[in-house]
Amino acid sequence: MAARNPRPDLPLLARRFGTPLYVYSQDDIQERLVRLRKSFRRPGTLICYALKANSSRAVCRILAQAGAGAEVVSGGELLRAGAAGFSPDKTVFSGVGKTAEEMSLGLRRGILSFHVESSEELDALEYLARRLRKPAPYCVRLNPDVQARTHPHVTTGRAENKFGVEEADALAMARRGRKSPWLRFQGLHCHIGSQIRDTGPFGRAAAAVARILRLLEAEGLEVSLIDMGGGFGISQQGEGALDLAGLARTYSRAFAAWPRARLIIEPGRYLVAEAGILLTRVLYRKKTSRRRFVVVDAAMNDLARPALYGAFHPIVALRPRPGLRQRVDVVGPICESGDFLARQRLLPPVEPGDILAVRQAGAYGFAMSSQYNSRPKPAEVLVSGRKTRLIRRRETIRDLICQEIG
Ligand code: LLP
Repeated sequence: MAARNPRPDLPLLARRFGTPLYVYSQDDIQERLVRLRKSFRRPGTLICYALKANSSRAVCRILAQAGAGAEVVSGGELLRAGAAGFSPDKTVFSGVGKTAEEMSLGLRRGILSFHVESSEELDALEYLARRLRKPAPYCVRLNPDVQARTHPHVTTGRAENKFGVEEADALAMARRGRKSPWLRFQGLHCHIGSQIRDTGPFGRAAAAVARILRLLEAEGLEVSLIDMGGGFGISQQGEGALDLAGLARTYSRAFAAWPRARLIIEPGRYLVAEAGILLTRVLYRKKTSRRRFVVVDAAMNDLARPALYGAFHPIVALRPRPGLRQRVDVVGPICESGDFLARQRLLPPVEPGDILAVRQAGAYGFAMSSQYNSRPKPAEVLVSGRKTRLIRRRETIRDLICQEIG
C-alpha cells in the first residue's frame, strides 16, 4: 500500500478479523486509475479493468464508480461486472472458450464487444445472434507472435499459445462482418501477456495490429475499436515498473492514422496488485540442517502465485524485532513442498504470533485462492481513509461441505 495514504492499523485489523486476511486500499486503487488516465491521453481511451485480477464486488465497485469499463472472461465475471455497476456498453468479453450460455448472456446484456478468438467461435456467435435477433458486436483477437519476456505461464502472444488468431485468419474473420447481418465487426484485440515491464513487446504488438488495420482499411472495412489488452508490469524487487507514459506514446504513434477508433486498455494487476496485502500470522519456527523455516497460517491455497510461478512478493514484519536478519523459507501448512510464500528470504527475527504482511497481493491473490486441504478461504477487508469494512467474511468449515450431496 502506498505510504502517502493514511496507514491502517494492520495489527488491529489482524486481531479484529483474524488471519490470513486480505486488506485492500480504496485510495490506492483510485489513485492508480487516475495515474493511468493521466498517462493515456488519447481522446476517448477506455480503461477496461480485467476482473480476473480481483473480482471482489467492493473492489470492482470502486473502479465502476470511477467510470472504468470491464474486461471479462466468463459468464461469472460478466454477472459480477454487472452487479458491481460496470456498464455493459463498456464491457468487453475475451476468452478462447466462451460457451453458448455465456455468449447469450453477453448478447442479452448488450456488451460493447465479444473478443472472438477462433473462426468456430465466430460461427457460434453468429448463430446465437440470429436466434436472439440481436446483432453481435465483435473484435478479432490477433495473436501477433511476439515474445513478451515474462513467465511462460502468462505469455499469451506467441504462435504456440492458444490465444487469438494469426493475421490471415484475422482478416478473414473481420471480413465476415460485411457479409452477415448478425455480425458487427468493431476492430482488433490483442493481449500479449502479463507482468511485462518493457515497452518493446507492446510496440511490436501494436505494429502488428496497425499492419492489419491498414489492410482492412484498404478493403473499406471501418474500425471503431483497438483493444491492446493489459499486462502492465509492476516493480517487484526494485527492478522498475513499465514506463506507462512511454507505452501511451507508443500506442498513440502506432494508431495515429485512426483517430476515430477508440483505444481500449485492459489493466488488471496495475490497478490492484499494490493496493492489497495478505496478513498472516507466524505459527512456528523450525530448522533443518539445511534450512530455516517460518511456518505461517497462510498457504498456497490463499496465495498461489509463489507456488505456481515462483513469483516474488515482498514480505515485511509488522513489528520488526531487533536482531540479525536471517535467510528463511516462509511456508504454509499445506502438505506439499511447493507450498511456500517466499524462499531464502532475508527477514528480521520473528516469533510465533508475529504478523507478517505479504505485499503486492491485491491482484491474482484471493482471485486464485482455493480450498485445497479443506482450508476455508480468508476474509477480505477494504480500507478507505480511516474507515475499514469487511467485504467478504471468512469462510467457515461448513462452507466447505455445504454443497456436497449424499
Ligand atoms: N486482458 C486479457 C485478455 C487477459 O488475459 C489478462 C490477463 C488481462 C487483460 C489483464 O492482465 P494484467 O494487466 O493483469 O497483467 N495469474 C497470473 C496472471 C494471469 C493473467 C491472465 N490474463 C499472475 O498471477 O501473475
